[in-house]
Amino acid sequence: MAAKFQPIGVFDSGYGGLTILKEFIQAMPNYDFIYLGDNARAPYGSRSFEVVYEYTLQSVEKLFEMGCNLVILACNTASAKALRTIQQNDLPKFSQNKRVLGVIRPAVESIGQFTRNGHVGILGTVGTVLSNSYPIELEKWAEGKVLKTTQEACPIWVPLVENNEIDSPGTDYFVEKNIRNLIAADPEIDSIILACTHYPLLLPVIKKFVPEGVKILEQGKVVSASLVEYLKRHPEIDEKCSKSGIVKYYSTESIDVFEKNATTFIGKELKGEKLTLK
Ligand code: DGL
Repeated sequence: MAAKFQPIGVFDSGYGGLTILKEFIQAMPNYDFIYLGDNARAPYGSRSFEVVYEYTLQSVEKLFEMGCNLVILACNTASAKALRTIQQNDLPKFSQNKRVLGVIRPAVESIGQFTRNGHVGILGTVGTVLSNSYPIELEKWAEGKVLKTTQEACPIWVPLVENNEIDSPGTDYFVEKNIRNLIAADPEIDSIILACTHYPLLLPVIKKFVPEGVKILEQGKVVSASLVEYLKRHPEIDEKCSKSGIVKYYSTESIDVFEKNATTFIGKELKGEKLTLK
């Protein structure tokens, strides 16, 4: 009998989660994955708590229906605004074996490897910043390694990436402006968390404006290392993840549009399927 297809679900509001999936595939090439991008309703960054929660829950339910037992919210905004409610209120309604994890906690837990003086900067969407999830989680999980957290919302960065404006002077202008604001708010910042899936694509521009010596934490690598560790600690979940190296891509947007733009984020061509959420 063929093994059951039980992929790890990777959810994002759109394309950005592909930067996280790329790292998962590299770290865990034998696992099966389903990527779901809610591109038709993206961006989530400026949406209300209620709406981000509703959309994220629909996607998680869909991924469970498709055979996933473990779903990663690869989107910071969804992790900030929906993860806790889903874990506390919704998961108990599903089978006991289902799990949903986010991207904030792994970044927070690894900050000790980056900061030396405890002054941390967060760059994220308006939604992530307003949720205060990073300061709250840093206080809880960074084991006293963080003294001060300063946040800066960068609402223009996602549209710049999505419109392929990475190399334009306009992008330099906005990236410099947001980084200046962040550093002006706390000149002692020695580490910055890129708290949005899209920002690693802006890394060459970000590096131009971040003061020398300031470390930059990209999420993809820390989140994938943390997933590998999680599955080692939870063999009961690991055995519910099938391992044939199959990766499937779904989007709520027209699939031609998704396939065309996805390449920028994952660095290769892919074939996807359109999916409708309720
Ligand atoms: N994926 C989102 C995040 O990481 C960025 C894109 C959006 O606003 O939907 O916050």
